[in-house]
Amino acid sequence: MTCDAARRLLASCGQEHVLKYWGSLDSVGRKALLKQVSAISAGDTLRCMKALSTKGASAVSTAGGRAPKVAVPTKALKAKWTAAGERELRAGRVAALLVAGGQGSRLGYDGPKGAYPIGPVTGRPLFWYHARKILAKKLQYGKSVPWYVMTSEANDADTKRCFRENGYFGLDRRDVVFFTQGMWPCMDEEGRMLLKSKGEIATSPDGHGGVLAALSRSGALADMKRRGIRHVFFFQVDNPLVNIADPAFIGFHLLEKSEYSLKLCAKTDPFEKVGVPMAFGKTWRMVEYSEMTKEDALRKAKDGRLYHLYGSPAIHVFDRAFLEREAREDMPLHLAFKKIPCIGKDGKSVKPDSPNGYKFEKFIFDLMPKARKCAFLAFDKADEFSPLKNATGDDSQETCRRDMMAKWRRALVRAGVEMRDDAVFEVDEALFGPISGE
Ligand code: UTP
Repeated sequence: MTCDAARRLLASCGQEHVLKYWGSLDSVGRKALLKQVSAISAGDTLRCMKALSTKGASAVSTAGGRAPKVAVPTKALKAKWTAAGERELRAGRVAALLVAGGQGSRLGYDGPKGAYPIGPVTGRPLFWYHARKILAKKLQYGKSVPWYVMTSEANDADTKRCFRENGYFGLDRRDVVFFTQGMWPCMDEEGRMLLKSKGEIATSPDGHGGVLAALSRSGALADMKRRGIRHVFFFQVDNPLVNIADPAFIGFHLLEKSEYSLKLCAKTDPFEKVGVPMAFGKTWRMVEYSEMTKEDALRKAKDGRLYHLYGSPAIHVFDRAFLEREAREDMPLHLAFKKIPCIGKDGKSVKPDSPNGYKFEKFIFDLMPKARKCAFLAFDKADEFSPLKNATGDDSQETCRRDMMAKWRRALVRAGVEMRDDAVFEVDEALFGPISGE
């Protein structure tokens, strides 16, 4: 792209100031800035500016939202779903999709969250535990579960290095497909792109919902189709307990003829920080905990339990065909008002101590209203959800290790192993076999 073309593109979306310091850049700086500008879409930029003026996709009233009908597994139902899911796994029609492009700012770890040394004994990285579960499926069903891993510009190289240095954790590297999510420019309150330096626009990852566009752009969706994938198991990097490609969940999705299925767990606190699915008329929407009124959060059902009992830990199964259909559509933009280091109007670097600009994100659960059918399955939190979000305290490495060992202990005891109460240990699911709770 030439400087003139960049000027024209930026002018078409009111961002000419991006080239304000062009004259002070050397040839390397100019080349890098032109590369960044060439990746900008004027249409997307105008969408961001419009989202800013309307304050994004949030702030919709949650009054009157109905709770979903959530299937609670019985032994018989679980057996039926598992048999159906196992058929799909044996036929090689299941893929795993990991979103691992987040910045992990709360954890404050210097590297991709998936490389965090979570193993209670070995300090093995989070990725190892995911990979070994995926390998366990291949060993059990004889067909690979291809693993699609979304990274971001910031952690792509480190993520790939972690896989390489660990020999892909025993997986066939042809079954691991990396792709990188998009970046959106950050903007000030007037909708002007912020500059990180005189030659660089401040950007941030476009959210876990960016996975759709990234799957399509990178060719990963086409790769899924080529491999004959029908069901896509979606999970987040920070949950070491997740039961990847759970046959019961896949079978449930299939038999329910759902396009988008969600695992939900009962909240232990009405104000727990999880999204809550609600129906408005015939449309589903994920209501974020911050959007819920106190009244909705505390509302009781006839049985005395919370009416909006179930929350979503972002464990989903999608039809691959549904993802393909929706990858052609725009997703809503959500705004986050953040502290963004940038160049001030006087050309000096600013490290703000209060929010000064907006990041734009897409959320995966905004696909809910688009699905012809959503289905909801209850699961036991102790077996499948313990997120790594913070450096200490709740949802930290300490709670993750505790919950990993508690889950393994239950499985080992079920298998007849005698355990000392104070044992510190690890289980390799590729050797032990998949662990899915009772
Ligand atoms: P979180 O919203 O918890 O964000 O991501 P995070 O980046 O891990 O942590 P904080 O909020 O900065 O502390 C939930 C999941 O979505 C992925 C994350 O990698 C994680 O698996 N994610 C999030 C992306 O892949 N891309 C994004 O842009 C945002």
